Amino acid sequence: MFQIITNKEYSCQDTVVIGVFDDKSLEKVDKTLAEFVEKFLKDEVVKKNELISLYTLGQIPCKKVCLLGLGNKDEYSIVTLNKVLRKVNSNLGEDIAIMIDSFVEKVSFDEVVSEIILTVSEYNYRFTDCKSQEKEQNITIKLVSTNSLADTKTITEAFNIATSISNARDLVNKPYNYLNASDLANYAVEMCATINSEKLTVKIFDKKEIEKMSMQAFLGVNKGSTAEPKLIYIKYQGKNSWAKPIALVGKGLMFDTGGYSLKSNMCDMKDDMAGAATVLGAIEALAKNNIEANVSVVIAATDNRINGEALLPDDVLTSMNGKTIEIVSTDAEGRLTLADAITFAQKEGANEVIDVATLTGACVVALGDYVVGAFGNCQCTMSKFLDACKASNEQAWQLPINDEIKQKVRSSRVADLTNSTGRNMGASGAAAFLEEFIEKDTKWIHLDIAGPAFHTAPVDGKEYGATGVMVKSIYNYIKRGV
Ligand code: BES
Ligand code: MN
Ligand code: ZN
Repeated sequence: MFQIITNKEYSCQDTVVIGVFDDKSLEKVDKTLAEFVEKFLKDEVVKKNELISLYTLGQIPCKKVCLLGLGNKDEYSIVTLNKVLRKVNSNLGEDIAIMIDSFVEKVSFDEVVSEIILTVSEYNYRFTDCKSQEKEQNITIKLVSTNSLADTKTITEAFNIATSISNARDLVNKPYNYLNASDLANYAVEMCATINSEKLTVKIFDKKEIEKMSMQAFLGVNKGSTAEPKLIYIKYQGKNSWAKPIALVGKGLMFDTGGYSLKSNMCDMKDDMAGAATVLGAIEALAKNNIEANVSVVIAATDNRINGEALLPDDVLTSMNGKTIEIVSTDAEGRLTLADAITFAQKEGANEVIDVATLTGACVVALGDYVVGAFGNCQCTMSKFLDACKASNEQAWQLPINDEIKQKVRSSRVADLTNSTGRNMGASGAAAFLEEFIEKDTKWIHLDIAGPAFHTAPVDGKEYGATGVMVKSIYNYIKRGV
């Protein structure tokens, strides 16, 4: 549990956190604290990015004082702040009082507040649902300032984004036996009920209803599974009328074995619903913060498993929009579910689609674990989206969809499309396949998050597992557009 409160003062049980620049100026903290810290700083320095803990032993009314090195004032930026805040976590204590004013310098008060909330939440996150002993660390962050903090809008907004990201991470970290398609659908219903906004509606379509809509590409992936597929459809109407909604389509493969094109190593494939988790996190943050935008979420949720009924290579499926697809690999299943989800979104009126998917290993080879692959059909939308990523401190890089790869997607000798274009340019091949389902006037962005969604060898004190990547960027992109 991560909780934020605001206060004018710290108290006895608190660990007090202060930002210290190279010039050692302490005029932004109260006299008692300043005098205590000055004694230490007389012949010591706090290097940039370093944390020094001082026990007060009752000399002043708090438990501990932690000094965070912020470096030179001229070089100070939100990046410096982000790095050093990673050290603020439950190891310092359950009650942490952060002296906001000591961090304000070139970075504005509001920026400091939201950076603290987002970074502490990100780095203090633990997934403990499957541990019998370990419980999640409770942590209360007290934001202390001489400023009145009367305008708590920034605090609420950042807190809502932070919790939406944590919720998205929880979904991805849950193994398949904790979260199948039905569980995800239930989660979506509960999430909407909890937000309790009349702008939010949710509908779950079961297998019969999906069959009625002729989503055979989606259903093809589900054929070998004992668990029911679910189509999750959420609408958030932030404007007066349901005009020009942006659809967020998330890949919801609850587990990907590869199907009969069986994966030789399928460890971590519980993360194949990270796209779904991301779009759920994004709409949660948008709705909680009451953003004036029309946004929908579409998730075609299923797992990709095998039994006697399962999809086979050489099978041909007819998608919801009528195009036929030759199955070359049953492991290229994400694009099949997304094709129908994208068609559904446009039938429901979306004229802009952002899809998010752990779609290809090829994208991981190209861009690694920290950079999202971005594709699209409109350079103007793409530039805006990449700007929003930059502002959100998330890395995304545009990759091409050229005519040659489009031709390859259409090169099946037995059907309209092939579901696999092979090894080379694999991430673009998947994107080109999805573009076949984008209608003429739809603006479209495709985000391949196969690498950044889940970290098995995290660096920089990051946590093992789900990252919640792209929740913040999508939120900021949509917020900027209104
Ligand atoms: N879910 C995988 C992609 C993936 C790989 C996600 C690594 C996370 C980490 C996807 O369904 C898949 O299997 N893609 C194939 C496509 C190929 C058969 C055309 C791949 O990338 O190998
Ligand atoms: Mn696959
Ligand atoms: Zn997959």
